[in-house]
Amino acid sequence: MRTILVTSGTKGGTGKSTIALNLSVLMAYKLRSKAQYPVILIDASVDSGSSTMLLFGQSNPNVQYTLIDLLDGRTTDPLSVLYLRQWQVNGDQFNIVFAASGFSNLTRYRSLYPLSMLLNAIRSLSPILTIIDSPAMGMTGDIIEVTAPYLTDVIPVMTPDHSSIKAAKLAVNSIKAVNANINVLNPILNMFDERYPVDASTGIPWTEVAKGELGMEPFVVPLDEYVQIARQALEIEVLKIGPLESKAVASMINYSNEVLGKLLQ
Ligand SMILES: Nc1ncnc2c1ncn2[C@@H]1O[C@H](COP(=O)(O)OP(=O)(O)OP(=O)(O)O)[C@@H](O)[C@H]1O
Ligand SMILES: [Mg+2]
Repeated sequence: MRTILVTSGTKGGTGKSTIALNLSVLMAYKLRSKAQYPVILIDASVDSGSSTMLLFGQSNPNVQYTLIDLLDGRTTDPLSVLYLRQWQVNGDQFNIVFAASGFSNLTRYRSLYPLSMLLNAIRSLSPILTIIDSPAMGMTGDIIEVTAPYLTDVIPVMTPDHSSIKAAKLAVNSIKAVNANINVLNPILNMFDERYPVDASTGIPWTEVAKGELGMEPFVVPLDEYVQIARQALEIEVLKIGPLESKAVASMINYSNEVLGKLLQ
C-alpha cells in the first residue's frame, strides 16, 4: 500500500484537488481488476471540501459523517467517513472510496489525531493507493505533520510563479524533515500557459526555475479552459472530458500512467 500526499505547501489554488481527484479516478480505473478498493481518496481540505464536492457531484451532499465530524468527535469510527463512488466506463465498472471532508467555517482544528486513526483504519480495506488531497494555507503544516509518518510518496503541485515554486519546495523539505524515506514523485507544473513560458523578470523558463528549486524535471500540465469550465460545473470526472478535447486531461493521463508504472514496479 502506498500513501501519496498531493501538496502545494502554503500556496492555494494551484490545482491540487483537480489533480488529486483526476489521478485517483484514472488510477482506480487502471487498477480496477487488482483490488476491490484500489484507490482511497482522502480529501483533507476540510475547510473547502473541494474533492468531496466534485465526487458527490453537488455542493451540499446529504451524508451522515464527514472528516470534520471525525475531527470534532461526532463519530469515533474512522471508517464511517468513507463513501463509495462507482463509475461505469465502456461497460467496465470501477470503484473509488473517498473520505468526505465536510464543510466548516473553522480553519484550524484542535486535534488532527483522528486523521491518523483514519489512515490506520483504511489498511483494513487493503487499498493499493491512498491519495491525500491537502489544504493550503493555515492547515498545511498540521496536515504534513500528521500524515508525514504514513506517507510513502509526495506529489508537489505548483504553478508558474515564484511563490508557488518556493512553497512547493518548502513543503517537500518539511516532509523530508519528518520522513526521510519519502519518495518525491515528479513535481507538477500546473496551469502552464505556453504563451508565457519564461519568467519575464529573468528570462529563465519556468520549467528551469522549478527544476532549479526542486532538483527534478517538472511535469507540465497545461492551462486548459475545459478543466476550468468543468470544475465550475462540478463535473470534472476525467472520463467525461477526453484527452482529445483537453490538453490538461491528456497530460494528467500521461502523468498517471508514468507514476503508476513507477509505483507498481
Ligand atoms: N490545468 C488547469 N487549467 C485550467 N484551470 C485549472 C487547471 N487546474 C486547475 N484549474 C482550475 O483552478 C482552480 C483551482 O483548482 P483546485 O481547486 O484544484 O486547486 P487547489 O490547489 O485544490 O485549491 P485550494 O488550495 O483552494 O484547495 C479551479 O477552478 C480549477 O478548475
Ligand atoms: Mg483543493
